[in-house]
This record gives sequence, C-alpha cells and structure tokens, in this order.
Amino acid sequence: MGSASQDTYVLPDATSPSLVLAHPTDAEKRRTWSLNHREWGGALTLEEYLKREPYLTTIPLTRDGGMTHWILTDSSWSADSSSGGGSTRPVLASCESIRKRVLVAAPDDAEVHDGVGHGIGSVFTYPEFRGRRFAARMLNELGPTLRKWQAHGGRDAVCSALWSDIGKTYYAKKGWAAFPSLHVEFPSTSAKQSGEAEAEAEAGAGSEKRGEITPITYDNLEPLCQRDEQLLKDKLTRTARETRRTSVAFAPDHDTLRWHLYRDDFISSILFKTTSPQETNSNSSVAPFIRGAIAGPEGRRVWAVWSRNYGGNGAPADNVDKNKLYILRLVIEPEASEETNESPAEDIREAFTAVMQVALKEASRWHLGQVNLWNPSPTVKRLIDRSGLRHRWVERDEDSIPSMMWYGDENVRNIEWVANEKYCWC
Ligand SMILES: CC(C)(COP(=O)(O)OP(=O)(O)OC[C@H]1O[C@@H](n2cnc3c(N)ncnc32)[C@H](O)[C@@H]1OP(=O)(O)O)[C@@H](O)C(=O)NCCC(=O)NCCS
Repeated sequence: MGSASQDTYVLPDATSPSLVLAHPTDAEKRRTWSLNHREWGGALTLEEYLKREPYLTTIPLTRDGGMTHWILTDSSWSADSSSGGGSTRPVLASCESIRKRVLVAAPDDAEVHDGVGHGIGSVFTYPEFRGRRFAARMLNELGPTLRKWQAHGGRDAVCSALWSDIGKTYYAKKGWAAFPSLHVEFPSTSAKQSGEAEAEAEAGAGSEKRGEITPITYDNLEPLCQRDEQLLKDKLTRTARETRRTSVAFAPDHDTLRWHLYRDDFISSILFKTTSPQETNSNSSVAPFIRGAIAGPEGRRVWAVWSRNYGGNGAPADNVDKNKLYILRLVIEPEASEETNESPAEDIREAFTAVMQVALKEASRWHLGQVNLWNPSPTVKRLIDRSGLRHRWVERDEDSIPSMMWYGDENVRNIEWVANEKYCWC
C-alpha cells in the first residue's frame, strides 16, 4: 500500500491491492496535459494545448460525459485540494475513454445491432514513474471496467479499441489485439508536378465545372452520415454472412465525424489565426477549407470526408512534410455491386478520382504534404490502382495500430472489423 505524509509519497508496487482506477481532479488533468503536451501537442504550444484539451470535452460525441478521464492512483491518497496549493497525490498513469456507437452483425442474424464501444486515448505515464508497470496495471483495470462503463440498459459494451503508438505487442499482451494497419499515401505536391496527375486534375476540374462535385460542409454532412450508416449496415450483414464471423464497425455517425471536424477547426483556427473554431478559415484571403467532396449522381455517388493534421513546431508552411490530410471516411455508394466487379465501373472510377483530386488540391492549399487513407476496402484498392494517382502503400508497425478488446464470447481474432478507417480513431 502507498503511504503519504505531508507531500512525501511512498510509491506502491504495481501489484498492490490499494491501487485503484479513479477520475482526476481538474488540477490533475492540467498537470497531466502539461507533461504529455510533448507527445500529443502537435503544432500547438503548451498554452494552446491546455485550451484544446478541455475544449474537446465540449463538442459532439465527447460533451455531456461522452469522454471520461482516468488515472491510476492509490486509494489511501487524498485527491482533496482544499488544503490549498492543489492535490499533489501522484498520478501513476493516465488515459481517456470516449463512448462511441458500434454496429454488430452476427453470421446468422439478418439484423444489425447497436451497442456501445469505447475508444481509449492518451495512455501516459509520467516520466519519473515509467518502467514500473503502472500503465500495465491501469490497462488491466480499465479493460474490465469499460465493459460495464456507460453501457445501455445494463448491456455490456461490445468492445474497446485503441490506436497504439508503441507497436503491436504491448497492448496485445493485455487483451487489445492488433488489427490491420495499412494505409496509402498520395503526395499532394505530385498533383502539380506529374503530367498524369495534372490530366486527372483537369478531369476533376472538368467535373467540378459540370457541377458533378459537391463540397461537403457542416450543412450537408448529416444526411450523408445517415446514408453511410445504412450502407455500412448492409455491408456488415454481407460480411458476417460471407465470412461466418461476427462483424463490427464503429458507426460513422454525425457526432463522430463532427468530433474530428471540430477538433481540426480548433487547431487550424489557432494555426491560421482565424477568429473562432467554427468560423475557421473564413478569413478574407483564403477560401474556406472544404471538409470533403461528393461526386456522381445519387445512387452512384462516391464521397469522402477529411480533416487536417499538423505536426512539427511553428508555421504549417514550414512543416509540409509532417502535415497530412486524413480521409476520415470514404464511401462508395454502390459498393455492394462494385465488390463483385473485377474492374471498377468507369463512372465510379471517375467519381473516385475526382474526389481524390479535390482532396489533393485542398491538401496542397493547406500545407499538407500528403493525403492519407487507412485500410481501404478491396473495392477501393482497385479504384486506387486504376486512378492514375501517384501513391505509396505503407504497413505501419509502430504508430496508430488499431487494437481491439472484444467483450463478447467470440475470440477477438475471429472478429471482422469493417471500415477500420481513420474516423474510428481517437
Ligand atoms: C508507453 C508508456 C505509457 C508505458 O508506461 P509504463 O508505465 O512505463 O509502462 P509499463 O511499465 O507497464 O511497461 C513498460 C513497457 O512499455 C514498453 N514501452 C515503453 N515505451 C515504448 C515504446 N515507445 N515503444 C515500444 N514499447 C515501449 C517498454 O519496453 C516495456 O515493455 P515490456 O512490458 O515488454 O517490458 C509510457 O512510456 C509513456 O507514457 N510514453 C509516452 C506516451 C506514449 O507513447 N503512450 C502510448 C501511446 S499508445
């Protein structure tokens, strides 16, 4: 058991029964953010990061208790900060969870069920406490806790997931199995240089002129999310039937997509010095950032929703190589019929290429060196191959490895994670 007198704390062993999972005080959250700014602050200064983290508890998906902060501490230590100067109990490890909707289909069930899944983020141990198994202990407590946390109608959560930045084994040993971590990168600079891509850009611009490309904004996002969810449910049923495996997807719903867009807006409004998060990019000299694009007529549409990610210190223009445009979600409306086509239909190929060209142009305009798409489906892989766009395939071994703990009876190795794309990440 840990003990404390005045401000002197004796650290317990990571196996001590007195260690508990608890929620940090505001002062403890601030202390933790001040330390992990180096890991997750991106292009923000510490002061800006200390504003972003509380802001992230006020936006769609995470507001109203959608996000929970967790710490590992000793039950004998007081969190009381009333004695003045704030609590000084050690925070032995910390993380957050975000409640999300998941959709689940079983092989012999025509219905897709709605459930709760938790995303886990910002797993962190203060530098002075590392290597003592405190993160391991916190995770060992957290896994079973999340099974029951904020579950609807007494039903257990379906799963929890995290995106490991420390390779594939650490979390797997604790029950979060690693899933595919393939992505494809499209250099945004090549759009201007390669003749082939230039021709495609013209084709894209032509489609724009013909009025076939519609930008995605906050105003038209919600019905697209609803349509996407409907299509995804069909895909889950198909996948479960064909693979004879339980199939799961995080719902690409309006709140989930807006969480990414609001987060992007907050960061970009600081980096580009615009007035407020939701007015982001509306400064007079720069046309507003386009959140995504739709091409093709209803029923045969292709669309993508994306967000910006800025790394490095200083101005975005000085860190183009570190900055990325992430495709959060890519939808092929007639995907069911395209899955059985060996060659993509010409209209779908054109629509896909036109959408990607808008993404590349936006990336280039906003100092993002690449467009990045996670785990494209076989249909999308075929479209990429035939798009003529320059690209590079990358199997990530270290960063953002999607990892899942399954709370149902099945072995997690037998679970099909459908639409394992960037929108799931947190
Ligand atoms: C990763 C981290 C949370 C581990 O905390 P900890 O309390 O020291 O962890 P534990 O004592 O339980 O385990 C230490 C293990 O983590 C491994 N580890 C730590 N950093 C690692 C890294 N960057 N890559 C791979 N493994 C790493 C150690 O090698 C050790 O492995 P072992 O279990 O095989 O011996 C901590 O180092 C940290 O906060 N790092 C910075 C933030 C970060 O990267 N968080 C993870 C985000 S997914």
